[in-house]
Amino acid sequence: MLKKTLPNTPLTENHTWKSLRTHHQEIAETTIENHFENEPNRLDYTSFEWDSFYVDVSKNRIDKKGFNLLFELAKESGLTEAIKSQFSGAEINATEDRAVLHTALRTLKEDPVIVDGKDILPEVDAAQKKMFAFCDNVISGNWKGYTGKPITHVVNIGIGGSDLGPAMVVEALAHYQNHLQIRFISNVEGDHHVEVLKGLNPETTLFVVVSKTFTTQETLSNANSVRKWFLTHAPEQGVGKHFIAVSTNLEKTKAFGIDPENIFPMNEWVGGRFSLWSTVGLSICLALGPDQFKELLNGAGKMDHHFKETPFKKNIPVVLALLSIWYNNLYGAESEAIIPYTQYLKNLPAYLQQGIMESNGKYVGRDGKPVNYQTGTIIWGASGTNAQHAFFQLIHQGTKLIPADFIGFKKSLNGNTDHQNKLLANFIAQTEALMTGKNEAQVKAELAHSNLTESQQKALTPFKIFEGNKPTNTILIEQLNPESLGALIALYEHKIFVQGVLWNIYSYDQWGVELGKQLANKVLDDIEGKRENPHDPSTLKLLSKI
Ligand code: F6P
Repeated sequence: MLKKTLPNTPLTENHTWKSLRTHHQEIAETTIENHFENEPNRLDYTSFEWDSFYVDVSKNRIDKKGFNLLFELAKESGLTEAIKSQFSGAEINATEDRAVLHTALRTLKEDPVIVDGKDILPEVDAAQKKMFAFCDNVISGNWKGYTGKPITHVVNIGIGGSDLGPAMVVEALAHYQNHLQIRFISNVEGDHHVEVLKGLNPETTLFVVVSKTFTTQETLSNANSVRKWFLTHAPEQGVGKHFIAVSTNLEKTKAFGIDPENIFPMNEWVGGRFSLWSTVGLSICLALGPDQFKELLNGAGKMDHHFKETPFKKNIPVVLALLSIWYNNLYGAESEAIIPYTQYLKNLPAYLQQGIMESNGKYVGRDGKPVNYQTGTIIWGASGTNAQHAFFQLIHQGTKLIPADFIGFKKSLNGNTDHQNKLLANFIAQTEALMTGKNEAQVKAELAHSNLTESQQKALTPFKIFEGNKPTNTILIEQLNPESLGALIALYEHKIFVQGVLWNIYSYDQWGVELGKQLANKVLDDIEGKRENPHDPSTLKLLSKI
């Protein structure tokens, strides 16, 4: 019997659902531009100023009544109580019998957070202090390698949440980085670690093995191979100066040969894909230093506060989550694009893919029965303006509805007004173009000025029409820095949670990745000739080709 720590009503069984569906049918044909005409003060309730953020959700196919019904639905779904349960340490990850408390790692207040009858904040503080002291030591050069040289390079070995978050943040905040060069090994493919190790000096390289469970095939294989590589250059006693680990599994970490002093603990109540705030973020802390890492935590903590304390109507993660449900469950939109207008955030979509799709890609509801509606959205994207020259054609003129988040920064990090103005012009123009499109009359007027004959103009006209009415959210932030990035990531984390609550699914487990892992072990036995397992004809043929 699972603990009942969250409400348990399937989305479509809420009373408000019916009203929402009816209202959707009423306005389904109303365009975004119509909504602007009908609601002269539309921006008053669809734009939000928060900290250094300006969020505009006005360019969506929904009106005030629709928004109000969504807020009503959220209330009826028990979202208020669910938020309280999460922050207070209730075991809302019921299928794994765990609390979900990545928010405790960045709490702004000193109020205790109780898990199993114990305040966890002193433990959080101790783990952070150990990490900060270690990072200070390495950055200052006090920590020496086995030949007495300071560390110049750090290699993070991990996968999934033990890789994507640290890799994304290190790249995103490259502008704030110190002299340490950070690299990442994740894929079990041997060629990956060989490429990453190229040019590294074992005397000055620190390896951070990150695995919450310390059982992950990819990470352990990579850590073993890297240690072999290290030992071809260095003596066994050198390992202690060059290998550290982050894990909840202290036994397995020790068994791997990591000096207990060099083990940085993390907690069960931090999910892998929400763990960059914990010691899993050690590579981030090495790259930026503890002060900037604290800024990252601070930004997330501020967003937590906003999420916890703000009424739904002005609560940015809640509003974005509800809009996503509106498109996913009423318009049948299957995917959402995330377009950050900065190269620094080019890995944000990949990071959010794990966060969003591993969390909400579930077909069984909290009542243990299959849901009869769509859940988890498919997330994809790339940085603007590169994305404009790659897949924007399909968003503008394709047959699919793809709501998109546009994320931009008012100020660049290195000046250069000319480039920044062009970047922001594209950032703003795209959402306008997606909404307004270009109608037949406009196309005809444009073509009338060309050198084409009348019949050529006529033939070309349909291809140049943009239907418009494509929904977007704009998240405009003052500048990219550790604090604003922390807040941005936390915003999406809370959006995930809200959607999971309304979809009535468990967002914090990930049973769906287990089957593949189990079968990979079996298939490995086949490949290594240890056993011949029964397989389907396709799999057997594939095995014969290897
Ligand atoms: O892909 C499944 C998963 O369990 C993720 O949730 C997790 O982030 C990743 O594997 C890595 O797990 P670990 O940190 O335990 O090595």
